[in-house]
Amino acid sequence: MSAAELLRVDSVDVHLRSRRRASRRDGASRILAGVSFAVAPGEIVGVIGETGSGKTTLARTVLGLIRPTAGTISFGGEEISRVRGRGLRARRRRGQIQLVFQDPLRSLDPDLNVAAIVAEGLDIRGGMDADQRATQVVRALELVGLDAAVLRRRSGELSGGQRQRVAIARAIVMEPRLLICDEPVSALDASNRNRILSLLLELRAQLGLAIVIISHDLASIAGVVDRVAVLYRGRIVEDGPPEDVFRAPAHPYTALLVACAPRISRARWLFELSPEQIRLETPRQPVEGGCVFMARCRFADDRCAVEPARAEIARSHIVACHRATEWRASVPSNR
Ligand SMILES: Nc1ncnc2c1ncn2[C@@H]1O[C@H](COP(=O)(O)OP(=O)(O)OP(=O)(O)O)[C@@H](O)[C@H]1O
Ligand SMILES: [Mg+2]
Repeated sequence: MSAAELLRVDSVDVHLRSRRRASRRDGASRILAGVSFAVAPGEIVGVIGETGSGKTTLARTVLGLIRPTAGTISFGGEEISRVRGRGLRARRRRGQIQLVFQDPLRSLDPDLNVAAIVAEGLDIRGGMDADQRATQVVRALELVGLDAAVLRRRSGELSGGQRQRVAIARAIVMEPRLLICDEPVSALDASNRNRILSLLLELRAQLGLAIVIISHDLASIAGVVDRVAVLYRGRIVEDGPPEDVFRAPAHPYTALLVACAPRISRARWLFELSPEQIRLETPRQPVEGGCVFMARCRFADDRCAVEPARAEIARSHIVACHRATEWRASVPSNR
């Protein structure tokens, strides 16, 4: 692991057994497959992918809530994916990695007021007197733009935007080095979405935090991230600087996501292809052990029957596609 990295996820596989299938003998399904990516201190990394692609599973695995079946995860130079028992509990109490859960209404205890919700992690960690604790809570609320007037309210008495801020305050009160936000803006309207994203930028600037923003919607995070990873059915198919990934996507799946994004963000990223030019109208038969996107890929050929390796096609721009540098030449013209 290079000294410039805070988090490194290396060839991580996760298998989960669904409750419904547990009674059958067919075992667990592979939810993440060979996932590798890194986050530098103070970096903002976006993880995008459609529903069910494994985004939340990835977040929970980094946090230590799910144990990888293969691969390693290192944080601050220390391997954390094999830590168990007392070591794992101590790590949770230190709280250097914090997750803001996907659904703030469900993740915030409805019976607690804001003061208690935000202080929860501090209470578990212990070692603070009541004054210190109160000061930390108010400071965290200030950092997320809420004043002390909300302290006595319960989560049901907050607006969606306020609730998301409380969820972020609860995470940053622990002074983490890495904040993972799972769909932080998907439940919000456009103006609140922009305010929360600006808030994340401010927190990075003020606290030097690294942030992973998980989203199914690339348009909302395009202007905020330093780097973006695209997850498709548990694999990272493309990873790179946003100006490469959004302007010249090298994986046909990323290209389809960018082409389908709202027009405004497309204009901003100057991507000229339309969904019709990329989409495969009739899915083809996937091949076992082949590229995961093959069934939906207009540009697949014989090589795609073998799963492509990740390759760096430009500086820090990594793609898992046999046809990464060729498919653009076979895009049909628009009409
Ligand atoms: N505890 C579990 N046991 C078995 N399968 C699971 C479990 N949790 C998630 N899965 C499956 O893993 C896949 C990825 O789920 P995950 O929640 O990580 O997706 P996601 O990308 O976060 O989706 P969304 O955008 O809808 O939040 C899905 O097919 C889901 O059904
Ligand atoms: Mg999710």
